[in-house]
Amino acid sequence: MTDRLVNTEEQENDLFESSLRPTTLDEYIGQDEIKENLRIFIEAAKMRDEALDHVLLYGPPGLGKTTLAHIIANELGSNIKTASGPSLEKSGDLAAVLSNLEPGDVLFIDEIHRMPKFVEEILYPAMEDFELDIIIGADGKSRSIKIDLPPFTLVGATTRAGDLSSPLRDRFGIVSKLNYYKDGELQEIVKRTGRVLGMNIDDDAALEIARRCRKTPRVANRLFKRVRDFALVKGKGYIDKDITVESLKRLKVDEYGLDQIDIEYLEALINKFNGGPVGIETIATAIGEEVTTIEDVVEPFLLQEGFIKRTQRGRLATEKTYNHLKIAKQEALF
Ligand SMILES: Nc1ncnc2c1ncn2[C@@H]1O[C@H](COP(=O)(O)OP(=O)(O)O)[C@@H](O)[C@H]1O
Ligand SMILES: [Mg+2]
Repeated sequence: MTDRLVNTEEQENDLFESSLRPTTLDEYIGQDEIKENLRIFIEAAKMRDEALDHVLLYGPPGLGKTTLAHIIANELGSNIKTASGPSLEKSGDLAAVLSNLEPGDVLFIDEIHRMPKFVEEILYPAMEDFELDIIIGADGKSRSIKIDLPPFTLVGATTRAGDLSSPLRDRFGIVSKLNYYKDGELQEIVKRTGRVLGMNIDDDAALEIARRCRKTPRVANRLFKRVRDFALVKGKGYIDKDITVESLKRLKVDEYGLDQIDIEYLEALINKFNGGPVGIETIATAIGEEVTTIEDVVEPFLLQEGFIKRTQRGRLATEKTYNHLKIAKQEALF
């Protein structure tokens, strides 16, 4: 599962990603509404010489949340300090990060929904009044002290906005949901990646990758890298549509960007459970995957693309799935 090519989550060998990250709003492709709003809020904050309001970015993995956090800091002309929810295990961990902030800094907390509740509570006064309340000493002798913090901007990122407590969510002045990208935007992203990595790619080849990358820039870049290898060794030294189609076929990524796990999921749904409705645990068991993997990584895209429907009674295959897998609905009954 971890080395699944179309996995939208960040992987070890995605380290090259940082070199592909756009650094300004102008270079950041798509998400137009978010970009235009941020542009205004950033400009206004600069004109008032105040810290930008706290920003919450949410949406599926690989759509550009981390990238956008860095861009916000860059456009503000501020430094960025980063932390992640799971690494802030104790109140002291967060207190240390907060007390290191300089005026106007951006503090980026990735996976902010995974912060323990008691750590999260330290954030409330910090976000609202730029104040750090800490308790020092133990037992009967403990006392609480308040430390003033410099004005700063918290940028939080999460794949699960629903898991955020409402007191935390309410303290973000700017809340932006990142959406899946359009093919034209992904094509542009792939072409940009080609320029950055110094490998030419034809328009129709870039569009082919765009169509198969689960509407996700991270996957687009990963597919680009693999196709580039094929083009280098077997092709003409640049990327055209033929080599793209051939490499993706070998990599078993189909024309919708579905890979073998998706296909197994859909085939199980149709062949073993008659197209549903069937519970997620049952499908997970049938194909030997974790429920959380299916929920976070497999299903969001299948739902978005209309391959499955989620109902009260479970998952349901759609017409599109029967067509794509070329299974007649009738036949599946026998
Ligand atoms: N709007 C965009 N324009 C260009 N490249 C993008 C864009 N969004 C994401 N990317 C690319 O996709 C990769 C993954 O983005 P990232 O910000 O790490 O996603 P997330 O934090 O949402 O999981 C980045 O390396 C970046 O190169
Ligand atoms: Mg990220």
